[in-house]
Amino acid sequence: MNEKIPVKFLPSGKTVCVPFDSTILHAAEAAGLWIDAPCNGKQICGKCRVRIVAGNVHNNRSVHLISSEDILNGWCLACAAKVVEPVTIEIPQPSGGHVVSEIMVDGAEVQLQHDPRKQGHLGIAFDLGTTSVAATLFDLFSGVERESAATHNKQIKYGDDVISRIAWARDNPDGLVQLQSSAVNTLNQLMQSLCENCGEKISSIRHITVAGNTTMQQILLGIDPSPLGEYPFEPAFKEPQYVPAQTTGLLAGEDADLIVFPQIGGFVGGDTVAGLLAANFDNIEKPSLFVDIGTNGEIALLHKGRVLAASTAAGPAFEGARIYHGMRAREGAIDQIWCSEGDLHLHVIGDVEAAGLCGSALIDCVAMLLEEGLLETSGQLCSAETGASKLKGRIFEDEKGQPAFALTYETDGRSKIFLTQRDVRELQLASGTIRAGIETLLLKAELTAQDLDGIYLAGGFGNYIRREKALVVGMLPPVHYMLIHFIGNASLTGAKRVLLSRAEMARAENLLEHTEHVDLSAQPEFSNLFMEHMMFPE
Ligand code: FES
Repeated sequence: MNEKIPVKFLPSGKTVCVPFDSTILHAAEAAGLWIDAPCNGKQICGKCRVRIVAGNVHNNRSVHLISSEDILNGWCLACAAKVVEPVTIEIPQPSGGHVVSEIMVDGAEVQLQHDPRKQGHLGIAFDLGTTSVAATLFDLFSGVERESAATHNKQIKYGDDVISRIAWARDNPDGLVQLQSSAVNTLNQLMQSLCENCGEKISSIRHITVAGNTTMQQILLGIDPSPLGEYPFEPAFKEPQYVPAQTTGLLAGEDADLIVFPQIGGFVGGDTVAGLLAANFDNIEKPSLFVDIGTNGEIALLHKGRVLAASTAAGPAFEGARIYHGMRAREGAIDQIWCSEGDLHLHVIGDVEAAGLCGSALIDCVAMLLEEGLLETSGQLCSAETGASKLKGRIFEDEKGQPAFALTYETDGRSKIFLTQRDVRELQLASGTIRAGIETLLLKAELTAQDLDGIYLAGGFGNYIRREKALVVGMLPPVHYMLIHFIGNASLTGAKRVLLSRAEMARAENLLEHTEHVDLSAQPEFSNLFMEHMMFPE
């Protein structure tokens, strides 16, 4: 039915014409009016109540959230009630009429409703990663970002990747409880320290959003992740989850709500949905690639309005784990390594003494060794005798008799921070699996690297990577390096946007609808591509 039906809103007096069967909530949005709807129209929260002043609506699903007496008095849920004839609707104050402004979140405009009831309320957005957890605290009324912090996920003692965490939950009677309380403790600690730093009380936190991979999100909600470890690797939910925060053990305000991101497939979770939102994949027309590098590598290819999304077990190498002197990208981490006129140069975050190297330096170092002829394309480090570069003097034999490359030295001349042969193998595995995933998706979409208009590189350490070096090690397909854009911690950016604006979750759900999950393990070409890309490019 193409008929448009007038809906008049009080007290503003605004009238808008909407298609038959539109919800009152959509009509209000079309009229530029705002109705408080914390569950985003899921008919869970019961907060979007409006009153029918004249006319009738179709309203058959909201009875459980509204008393029959209120229904008789004309009350209905704006997200459930549908327009079938001309109606006049009263939006109770103070729900309607808030000032709406565009605010910037990580460089993008987001619509924020300045609800006076949110004065003094705080909100927090989390990127719940397997290895690292990042958080940003906001003032919910003004949308002002107060402070950010990151820490290790306390679950790390149960294994450093999702497979080990799933196994822990499956094989130990208290496994799920232990994992869930470790995740909750990590989030609580971050909330506590951010609030303390800002001179605020943790009870002022009223709204929490979390984006994480499928395993992390399910564990946080106390949902057994074991089915994620077995065929058909189905997630327990795909739609966003809205729950009272305190039911999970999160220390926030009494009535604080927790929104957990929707999920695409077994290993393509809320962090990817949040990342696609941050990369604005719903507003890009030309073929584009999204790559989020963390403990898992999430890859999504946009082509003709559809998105193919996959996950690869990249391992935690880029986050510093399993690397002999690896660490996260924080003060003391070497984040850049380069060779100039035969000499080695390092940059350390914070310009302090080097304590280790982070993921970007790992890529830099391997790329430099390849360029200097000290590393074969097979990944074998040369011995000090065979190398040709001036840097070959830095190659030594470690205690296992394997070649290693010294980055810094102790005062007595012993190597202090160095790259081992095993570290190179870890990078080969991580980089090869990401590249094989990318090539599989390109093949599936019948595209080549030359068709790509942009590669959006996300990940906590993404901004530190030098694009040319990621190409040298073969982690990304051969494109002009100017086509590679860093978008930082896209999972956190997506979580921030949804924290501040309901419309952003609607965008995320729309992206989800246009996304197809690709199980790489079921793609016959994946293992051959992986073997091929384990080798560094010539
Ligand atoms: S019930 Fe939550 S928005 Fe309508």
